Amino acid sequence: MFTRIDHVGIAVEDLDSSIEVWGQRMEMRLAHREVVEEQGVEAVLLDVGEGHIELLAPLSAETPVGKFLAKRGPGLHHIAYQVGDIDAVLAALSAAGVPLIDQQPRIGIRSSRVAFLHPRGTGGVLTEIVQPQPGGHD
Ligand code: CO
Repeated sequence: MFTRIDHVGIAVEDLDSSIEVWGQRMEMRLAHREVVEEQGVEAVLLDVGEGHIELLAPLSAETPVGKFLAKRGPGLHHIAYQVGDIDAVLAALSAAGVPLIDQQPRIGIRSSRVAFLHPRGTGGVLTEIVQPQPGGHD
């Protein structure tokens, strides 16, 4: 069902200073930067082998990541698994009784199709599934 860990999402207060920390001090290559309106974030992807770290900064305090930061501060936000067919995986998870946040996929970073699973079904960890856009991902 899940083919690999696509990325680990980390909520940050300030994207530029975080890019400095991860990109320069830890020498991770900045692969992509994008405002994802649908998720209320500006996000960057940093390469870690075939996977990524996704740094997320909220576009406003009212967004989900803005509320997360206000409540819990910066830190681990979600884990994202790559899938081949997100519609089929969502249907299978739903049939298996896994609580979903998104009943239908929406557009994520790099034009991927994404959906979030509720943390109460995934050990308290917000979980994302990602079907990359062909050619839009390595
Ligand atoms: Co993500």
